[in-house]
Amino acid sequence: MHVTIFGATGLLGKALVQEWKQDQVTALSSKGADIRDLNQVSAAVRRSRPDWIVLAAAYTDVDGCESNRELAFAVNCQGAVNVARAAEENGSRLLFLSTDYVFDGLSTTPYEADHPRAPRSVYGRSKADAEVQILQILPSCCIARTSWLFGIGGKCFPDTILKLAANRQQIDVVEDQRGSPTHAPDLARAIVQLCHYNASGILHVTNTGDCTWYEFARAIVNGAGLKTTIRPTTSDKFVRPAERPKFSVLSPRSRERYGITMPSWQDALQNYLLARAPSS
Ligand SMILES: NC(=O)c1ccc[n+]([C@@H]2O[C@H](COP(=O)([O-])OP(=O)(O)OC[C@H]3O[C@@H](n4cnc5c(N)ncnc54)[C@H](OP(=O)(O)O)[C@@H]3O)[C@@H](O)[C@H]2O)c1
Repeated sequence: MHVTIFGATGLLGKALVQEWKQDQVTALSSKGADIRDLNQVSAAVRRSRPDWIVLAAAYTDVDGCESNRELAFAVNCQGAVNVARAAEENGSRLLFLSTDYVFDGLSTTPYEADHPRAPRSVYGRSKADAEVQILQILPSCCIARTSWLFGIGGKCFPDTILKLAANRQQIDVVEDQRGSPTHAPDLARAIVQLCHYNASGILHVTNTGDCTWYEFARAIVNGAGLKTTIRPTTSDKFVRPAERPKFSVLSPRSRERYGITMPSWQDALQNYLLARAPSS
């Protein structure tokens, strides 16, 4: 099987390249092909002739998207449409990475894959619109929504907490947002499996279990053996440009249809801390 990954230099992309050993992989950064440009995307797909395209490229700065709406839609929505068109031209299957931010965060029970989209941020809207448009172009594409991604390949919440904890005795972290942390290598392994299973439709793929950012931060500091105190606070004390979902736990039912299992977020965090230890 030949796979082309857009966004191969990102947090997930690096884990995908690392995990995808059994197939032939073409790994592209924005320099290899800017997804905003259909000609560049089509040329890259024609060159690599993939069976599967994994679209992990995105403008992921959630607050940045609020002030750069045009860029957010150009990359996250038009970019995804361009990749879907190139996939259609080449007869490739497409797996598109999406997000818990397509939901409003008002639910109190885990979101099923067919729950109506109701994004409350520019980032969420750009990804939700992309989902709708690529499903029109490629009705049998696969959309994998994930949440709270972390890993050693880039900026992420555990990395931020560990850096802060190195210099601070206490850190305030919000306890009124709940979700499921997801370790990039676990997600990457699930994506490889989904492509091998020829999956289609909308799927939710996160580590199992859920927590608040406060609980996650405590587990990070404790797991790293640090003494920093994590204090609970609320979102109104941390006003940021983009609204965050209060509750964005994604139900695992859709991925279970494919027999895909995911470790708990606690085990995933332990693996992250072990992987990080030699370089920190
Ligand atoms: N991070 C999270 O917490 C999270 C949560 C839910 C869903 N997701 C989704 O998961 C996917 C992967 O996220 P991530 O955190 O791994 O992203 P990331 O670390 O921010 O990496 C973004 C990737 O996109 C590429 N890219 C950006 N603009 C591009 C453009 N115009 N043309 C081509 N490539 C472009 C970057 O390439 P360069 O290195 O060349 O700039 C980089 O490889 C995204 O679809 C994201 O929406 C992420």
